[in-house]
Amino acid sequence: MSGTDRVRKAVIPAAGLGTRFLPATKSQPKEMLPVVDKPSIQYVVEEAVRAGLTDILVITGRGKRAIEDHFDRNFELEFYLEQKGKHDLLKEVQETSDLGNIHFIRQRDPLGLGHAVSAAREHVGDEPFAVLLGDDIMVDDSQLLISMLDLHQRYGRSVLALKEVGPDRISSYGCVEPEAVDGELVTVRSIVEKPQREEAPSNLAVMGRYVFTPEIFDALDRIKPGAGGELQLTDAIQLLLDSQTVYGRTFEHGRFDIGQKLDFLYANVELALDRPDLGPEFSAFLVDLMHRRGLI
Ligand code: G1P
Repeated sequence: MSGTDRVRKAVIPAAGLGTRFLPATKSQPKEMLPVVDKPSIQYVVEEAVRAGLTDILVITGRGKRAIEDHFDRNFELEFYLEQKGKHDLLKEVQETSDLGNIHFIRQRDPLGLGHAVSAAREHVGDEPFAVLLGDDIMVDDSQLLISMLDLHQRYGRSVLALKEVGPDRISSYGCVEPEAVDGELVTVRSIVEKPQREEAPSNLAVMGRYVFTPEIFDALDRIKPGAGGELQLTDAIQLLLDSQTVYGRTFEHGRFDIGQKLDFLYANVELALDRPDLGPEFSAFLVDLMHRRGLI
């Protein structure tokens, strides 16, 4: 298979209800939970922009207006910061609304990830596109999406991000049966959503990054409710496999599911340690804390 057009569009599904993070998500979207001082969805949008994706469509749902406001101008705040001479903060606030060409549509009923992605069909049209799940942030391996886009460019086919997980966690993910493995590149033979541990075809789980050929939309039209009674993106990928090869790109580090409490805490600690303005003092605090608790 020869190369193909460069991917320009990103779809970010952010319509989930965030039930795993109640009560914090009762009246605010989980994608707006701050990791250090930025809402998690901003990390996702910045990752897309860094990878050269210039057209970003966020799929929202009920109660998600704060996401739209976050990426919009806030003239009152900008005026206030300007008056007070807080130029650094002003720059940061303005950069948030200048991140790219960001569009929003609403998924009216929360029928599942497959349903959310199919809502992007009209906007995406007949082009390849990337999907970045709004509650998965990738910090360490920022090259992951870029390398998935390169693989798509080379083979002209869909590419999934894959990571090994322990047997006790595989039932939380889409899981692939690999066919051929060549370093970080995997050819997918089959895929199943949230298999029981004993039925999982491998320990390779799909993480929240995908590059799709537009044919995924025809497959999404044909899926029936699957795991959890939801319309699953994974089931559409299985259908796509009937007509096209699907590749996987494995990676190891840097992914946090901020919809999970522990991952959310890990992300905050790691990213705070990376920050030049916070890291040194925060790491001294952590060392002192460990001593006081008798952990080191
Ligand atoms: C979704 C997908 C699943 C994927 C996971 C990655 O599940 O359905 O295939 O492995 O994201 O985070 P969810 O986390 O929405 O249950």
